[in-house]
Amino acid sequence: MDLPKQKDIPHLFKNFSGSISVESPGRINFIGEHTDYNMGFVLPTAIDKKIYFELQRNGHSHTCNIYSKTFSSWFSFNLRDFRKSSSNWENYILGVVDEIQKLGKTLDGFDCVINSELPIGAGISSSAALECGLASGLNELFQLNLSKQEIVYLSQAAENNFVGSNCGIMDQYASVMSKKDHLLLLDCLSLEADFIPADFNSCKILLINTGVSHSLAEGEYNTRRRECESALEILQKKYDKVQTLRDVSLEMLQEARDLLNEKQFNRLSFVLSENKRVLKSREHLMAGELQSFGKLMYQSHYGLRDLYEVSCKELDFLVKATEDKSFIHGSRMMGGGFGGCTINLIEEDKIADFEIEISTAYEKQFGIKPEFITVVPGEGTIVNKI
Ligand code: GLA
Repeated sequence: MDLPKQKDIPHLFKNFSGSISVESPGRINFIGEHTDYNMGFVLPTAIDKKIYFELQRNGHSHTCNIYSKTFSSWFSFNLRDFRKSSSNWENYILGVVDEIQKLGKTLDGFDCVINSELPIGAGISSSAALECGLASGLNELFQLNLSKQEIVYLSQAAENNFVGSNCGIMDQYASVMSKKDHLLLLDCLSLEADFIPADFNSCKILLINTGVSHSLAEGEYNTRRRECESALEILQKKYDKVQTLRDVSLEMLQEARDLLNEKQFNRLSFVLSENKRVLKSREHLMAGELQSFGKLMYQSHYGLRDLYEVSCKELDFLVKATEDKSFIHGSRMMGGGFGGCTINLIEEDKIADFEIEISTAYEKQFGIKPEFITVVPGEGTIVNKI
């Protein structure tokens, strides 16, 4: 069976209804940024904004047709013979299929429609939602018997190996494993997770999208990761017992200062302090101390800006604009950085006025209208048989 002609694919999907549907959420992260690939702690959760999939077998042995309603774009590929595409979103799909097949699992031809309500490049992990949603849908469609954890790993591998972004485990883990109305404290070394009730009293979670897009695959993210790895190697030579950065204390880092260049020292200072902040955050949240928790969010931002150097002027502007507002308890950049959203913990009754004020100021400064997205902590991936 030949691949269908490109122009015929929308027609194929005209009256499409899948036998499996998947709701695959984006994620937010309250604190613990750039700590996942450094074997540290993170505090993310899935949100109520999602990518929706419908899938069904199409009776062919190797032809797959994918239709993105969001992009009004489509493509077909041969399960037995495909290579990297020049179109980024297609690579997330192909990467997942590749990793499933590498596990020795058998897929047959399928059709899939994707519809997303997640803004792209906003730092709320539309990519993990795409990978994990597809992997979960194929798991059900072809009865692959993959555990949730395997879905998390293979989705991360798809991004590392096929897309070329050396991301950590946080996004995929949060997208699949989160529990509604909870935050997920994940130890990225042991992969043990604790669920903390998301109880913010009269506060809401407000994301502000800078409208500045980043592509983590573009290099800076991978560079940060390499800087940390090279610094770790130096510390491993000095200290026998050090296997990961979790074995390094701030005192040891200080002692080894002369062995590291300034960037390496700053990157690690940030990571070690950020891990402490995540654990402290759990204490504050459990005790209902929102203001103290919020202060840690600000400290996280300043570290990401000054030591890890992954912020940008638009993000800094949005965070700064909240500093004198007592009704905002915490604000910081979220995700990989270089654009995307800030996450803000804000008193609900002040949101409307604040949005008007910040929108005007931001537009005046950058000529871009920021986008406001209110989110609530949601459930991880949901798969339904239709
Ligand atoms: C991106 C990556 C994650 C994580 C964050 C930064 O979202 O996909 O693995 O490293 O950046 O915390």
